[in-house]
Amino acid sequence: MDLNQVLEQARQEAKQITSLHELAELKAMFLGKKSVLNELMKTMKQVSVEEKKMLGQQVNACKVELESIFLFRRQEIEMLAIEMRLASEAIDVTLPGKQIAKGSLHPLTIVQQEIEDIFVGMGYLVEEGPEVELDLFNFEMLNLPKGHPAREMQDTFYFDETTLLRTHTSPVQVRTLKKAKGAPVKIICPGKVYRRDNDDATHSHQFMQIEGLVVDKNINMADLKGTLLEISKKIFGDDRKIRLRPSFFPFVEPGLEVDVSCFQCGGSGCPMCKQTGWIEILGAGMVHPNVLEMAGYDHKKYQGFAFGMGIERIAILRYGIDDIRHFYTNDVRFLKQF
Ligand code: PHE
Repeated sequence: MDLNQVLEQARQEAKQITSLHELAELKAMFLGKKSVLNELMKTMKQVSVEEKKMLGQQVNACKVELESIFLFRRQEIEMLAIEMRLASEAIDVTLPGKQIAKGSLHPLTIVQQEIEDIFVGMGYLVEEGPEVELDLFNFEMLNLPKGHPAREMQDTFYFDETTLLRTHTSPVQVRTLKKAKGAPVKIICPGKVYRRDNDDATHSHQFMQIEGLVVDKNINMADLKGTLLEISKKIFGDDRKIRLRPSFFPFVEPGLEVDVSCFQCGGSGCPMCKQTGWIEILGAGMVHPNVLEMAGYDHKKYQGFAFGMGIERIAILRYGIDDIRHFYTNDVRFLKQF
């Protein structure tokens, strides 16, 4: 038997296999009990001592060579397995990452935060108040006693005789003054308010306001006017002018409505300002002596001004939104634009 042929056959077959399991079978075939080599060894008894020695050496050499063929192939198969695993587990760091669906701030939140920043820069504190409010704070202590005709414009949702959803952020004036116990205050209060309105393009039973209140010694209308001009410029642009018109709110005296010169046409008249050159933005006035007195302030020593603006109104003007309901129906196609 030609042992070289056995080796050559082992080499060829080792090349064909790809798993350790096949390798074990191959090894058994060439080195196991039923292998050709073993058969050869069995014939040893019949040969001479000389030949036995030679044959023994040849068979041993062949076995050693076979072992090394299989060992080598074993290492190759193991390497291959590692390489395949590495390839399958490879991370392509150049692949773009998975997009995380990102939300965005609601337009009302954007406007609210912007206005808060302006006032905080002017030394105001930001206060909060409850949406479920007492009739006492929402109306009575704001100089709107029971049966006052001005209550009719601010009908709301009632829980019982004394508790309601606040119709404006003005009750926070009362809460703040009571808390301050006679000390000066300078606050704004953003928040949600409610009215018994039928929803349409310009009305919503739920909307947002920002209240402002300054109470101190020697506060007068000039302070109010200066403040309003300053914030109008900050919100609508440096070239803005303001116009004050007399108006009525029971908790201020005098009361006024504030217009800002149209930021679209600069005041010459356009569809935005309905050709008037002016856009109404808020209500304001000097805090009514009755309100100060009811909250424990001596109106002879203290004066104050207050204002209230609608956040939707500012956002509608700023972004050119045509329907107030967009703010509350939460269509992502709308919300994604901000
Ligand atoms: N609270 C008033 C409203 O909702 C606005 C306002 C606030 C007016 C403060 C004057 C002073 O209509």
